[in-house]
Amino acid sequence: MITNQRHLKYKDKINLGAFYTPQEYVNIVWNKITPFLNSKSIVLDSSCGYGNFFNYKIDCQKKANDIDLIAVEQTKRNFPEVEDFNRNSLSNVSREMFNISDNDNLIIIGNPPYNDTTSIIRNKIKKNDTQIDYDIKTRDFGMSFLLSYAKLNADIICVLHPLSYLIKKANFNLLKKFTNNYKLIDSVIIDSGTFKETSKGISFPIVIALYKKDNFGMDYQYIQNYRFKTIDGHNFALIDFDFIPNYINKYPLKNKIPKENDILFWTMRDINALKRNRTFVHKFGYNTIIIDKNKLDYYIYVDVFKQFSYLLPYYFGNLDVFINNNLFQKYKKYFYCEIITRHSFLKKYITYNENVSIQEAKENILNYFKILIGEHYN
Ligand SMILES: C[S@@+](CC[C@H](N)C(=O)[O-])C[C@H]1O[C@@H](n2cnc3c(N)ncnc32)[C@H](O)[C@@H]1O
Repeated sequence: MITNQRHLKYKDKINLGAFYTPQEYVNIVWNKITPFLNSKSIVLDSSCGYGNFFNYKIDCQKKANDIDLIAVEQTKRNFPEVEDFNRNSLSNVSREMFNISDNDNLIIIGNPPYNDTTSIIRNKIKKNDTQIDYDIKTRDFGMSFLLSYAKLNADIICVLHPLSYLIKKANFNLLKKFTNNYKLIDSVIIDSGTFKETSKGISFPIVIALYKKDNFGMDYQYIQNYRFKTIDGHNFALIDFDFIPNYINKYPLKNKIPKENDILFWTMRDINALKRNRTFVHKFGYNTIIIDKNKLDYYIYVDVFKQFSYLLPYYFGNLDVFINNNLFQKYKKYFYCEIITRHSFLKKYITYNENVSIQEAKENILNYFKILIGEHYN
């Protein structure tokens, strides 16, 4: 049986988000939905690729769809018992498009494409003219897919998607039509790097999420309190952390032009972005923040955090930079010593202790991170 995508070139793979799912994760999904299966159930994967999600022995009605005809034909060969479709899952979304009636118990599984249609990194290869219904249109295909499941009025949803859809408030807010009607009831976090041939570069957390239709849905506070488990036995909740935007501005203020002597910093996003981006910069642009010098400490913190971010596990990749402020106040002198070895221009803005060696500074910063990250220390 062929389960690894082989008919698309790199560019088309990016455009379709066509990265097929390993069996281990498929099994997790079926384990989670099995308690909800009944005689009226239809299990649908509306972005099925070669049909990997149907490689599981269980008797129920199954439907598969993909926009890519060659993929659908491979699904047909792999799983002749599955009813297949070749539609755009995001256009004219309705149960009828998959011959599903209102009385059916609809369970949606799969691994929809996720690619930020506005992302800068891949703008050169990403050209997308897929039709998407206006009421489910977002800047990211994966989020539109979640909205399409709500539009199909699914009873149960168990899919893989980036954790960032839930934990980043801006994303969460774009999903209102979904989050108002569904509640996350179980989940496990996996590493994007475990997919074959995924985008080269920094791995990010993907959640295998089980959602149940719910009259009250969930609000962002529910997510902040939700304890996420990872596949390798760790767990965390957003409320475990104090985040750096509680102390400083993440984004540039509009219409502010720098004066001489201002210190500039690159816009902060999440930890993975920090790993890729610069921190202190010397040229002003639309992506630069003018630092409030009273808060320079915290920008220094972020810069040093970047240096030590290799200590963090992949599942923190989409969090904001976090901090233990009391502890930082105690360790600050070491942060100062470390930073001036890399950004000597900061010497004139801070008072640092010349007697602290760089060796001593690094050891103490490591200690800070050991305490900050606790059991997650890499
Ligand atoms: C991440 S792959 C997953 C494939 C399969 N579910 C698996 O996990 O092995 C995403 C699939 O979505 C399909 N796709 C992308 N946009 C689509 C759309 N608008 N409608 C239906 N399928 C789409 C791609 O062709 C690709 O096969």
